[in-house]
Amino acid sequence: MNAAVERARDLVGRAERIVVLTGAGVSAESGVPTFRGTDGLWKSRRPEQLATPEAFARDPRTVWEWYAWRRSVIGACLPNPAHLALARLALTHDHVTLVTQNVDGLHHRAADEVADDLADAGADAARAHPLEVHGAMHRDRCSGCGWRSPGRTDVDTTSVDTLPRCESCGELLRPDVVWFGEALDMEVLGAALEAARHADLCLVVGTSAVVYPAASIPELAHRSGAAVVEVNLEETPLARYATTSVRGAAGLTLPTVLGLALTPCGTSTHG
Ligand code: OAD
Repeated sequence: MNAAVERARDLVGRAERIVVLTGAGVSAESGVPTFRGTDGLWKSRRPEQLATPEAFARDPRTVWEWYAWRRSVIGACLPNPAHLALARLALTHDHVTLVTQNVDGLHHRAADEVADDLADAGADAARAHPLEVHGAMHRDRCSGCGWRSPGRTDVDTTSVDTLPRCESCGELLRPDVVWFGEALDMEVLGAALEAARHADLCLVVGTSAVVYPAASIPELAHRSGAAVVEVNLEETPLARYATTSVRGAAGLTLPTVLGLALTPCGTSTHG
């Protein structure tokens, strides 16, 4: 075990209140593309044409095609050992708040899977469902009245006329994600910042930490006195103040950092 992993593991072992912030890197080993890496989504596409309210107003079909494609990619992906280890941490530790910038729903799926595993101990999956500060692709929302669908709607992108519409006001439905230029849900962000303010450990996994206000979560935790542990393949702006930086793939390193040994089928035992 290298020194950074050992230090991180020790900090996790001693922490009483933990806030975790994850980004696209936590899902990379599941096969979900990141945004800013070599093959990142924003390398070959322009966010202003696909992920803004203006783009949706101008060309809703193209925006829906892009999200239908991303949904199909995610539909074929499974939670990886990093999602599973974080879910187990949240279900077995008294004070863990999971916060994610991801819209892929993989933390939810991991929580449900691990809670099933721990059903005899009375685990409640909801405790490991993350605060989704950028929304979720597995839900839809009305672009007119804001009504939220409980799940995702089937989308036929043949033409504007076949796109899904709100049952109550008739406006177009859109994915329930936060687009560029839009405000985050203040209740969700507020809960994440509150957890950061009271944490004694902030674990930051697989994010380039350049998109605000999400990137202010570890900054606030640090200013409030928390140790900051980063898990990332590369150096990020967090290196300036992180207590320790684990350089490695989340799925390979997190189970060890969190004191869990994962078997290949994804079940885990304390190690
Ligand atoms: P990025 O694509 O900006 O960054 C992904 C980070 O994950 C990088 O720092 C990689 O080095 C790291 N990484 C990649 N694979 C990894 C692995 N296997 N293990 C550990 N780390 C790994 O993604 P985010 O930081 O999540 O916003 O991007 C933030 C926001 O920008 C997204 O939520 C999205 C995007 O525009 C919206 O759509 C509003």
